[in-house]
Amino acid sequence: MNKLFEGEYQFNLASRPNWESGASHRVTLTKYLTGLAGNRQGRLCLLGAGNCNDLDLQRLLQVYSEVHLVDLDESALEYGVQSQKVSDNPRLFLHVREITGAGQALSAYEADSVSPETDLSELIQHYSEPAELDLPGPFDVVCSTCVLSQLILQAVNAVGDTHPQFEQLMIAIRSQHFQTIVGLIDERGAGLVVSDFVSSESAADLKDVPDFQFTQYLSQLLSSRNFFHGVHPGLLFSQLKGNTSLAALVQDVEMLPPWRWDLGARQYAVAAIRFHRRSQY
Ligand SMILES: C[S@@+](CC[C@H](N)C(=O)[O-])C[C@H]1O[C@@H](n2cnc3c(N)ncnc32)[C@H](O)[C@@H]1O
Repeated sequence: MNKLFEGEYQFNLASRPNWESGASHRVTLTKYLTGLAGNRQGRLCLLGAGNCNDLDLQRLLQVYSEVHLVDLDESALEYGVQSQKVSDNPRLFLHVREITGAGQALSAYEADSVSPETDLSELIQHYSEPAELDLPGPFDVVCSTCVLSQLILQAVNAVGDTHPQFEQLMIAIRSQHFQTIVGLIDERGAGLVVSDFVSSESAADLKDVPDFQFTQYLSQLLSSRNFFHGVHPGLLFSQLKGNTSLAALVQDVEMLPPWRWDLGARQYAVAAIRFHRRSQY
């Protein structure tokens, strides 16, 4: 058993009872996804769907012709579709996939035995290649839901964040994830990258700050470098803006207002970036 994935299975098991507490996060995310459906009944792909506590699957199946759920945790996906009573829907598809293609290579490292001299070049090379996911894309809408912070956390757990090549590894993971998302979107389709970026574990007031002060509160956290590795919202935005090869493939890139995700014992701040894929002609 891959110990990094085992951590994900445990997290998903522990977070199953959070359907009620996560209602407002689910409503917000589902609203953005239904908004992207427009009136063309397209195909939706959700990366990191897990327990699907953040997705109203019945509502999504009303506005999309197909909904494809992708996650490495088969039992979380099965739990999600059963608990939302959509498991028999022929327009819903489960894909058990490790979305980086590098998870096995990563799990070969043990943070305790990785020294500053350990060469991570081969691992970084793994993340520099596109993951072959064998999904029935391209899709009209692709959403990544709070999976990028987990991908980076897996790297922290495997090699430690003080390794001299950690920054390079993190950049490769983030860049590969954005390439995966954009690569799965059909011409003129849309993408939504949703990422948790700080939690009440390091920002104890996160739950209590009034809505009207929330954005300002988050700015202060970001300025004091209180955010998860590699997922500063500005950095995520910059993957799709400016002079990058991905930026040339997309348009209408927008940062949506941040919101809160209540996961029972812990609260998270969530950032989201919405964009469209350019037509090639
Ligand atoms: C924070 S959870 C997302 C929340 C989830 N949508 C829910 O409401 O239950 C992150 C998800 O990413 C999945 N995940 C983590 N690493 C992955 C990987 N390398 N490949 C595929 N899925 C991964 C985990 O199994 C987990 O379900």
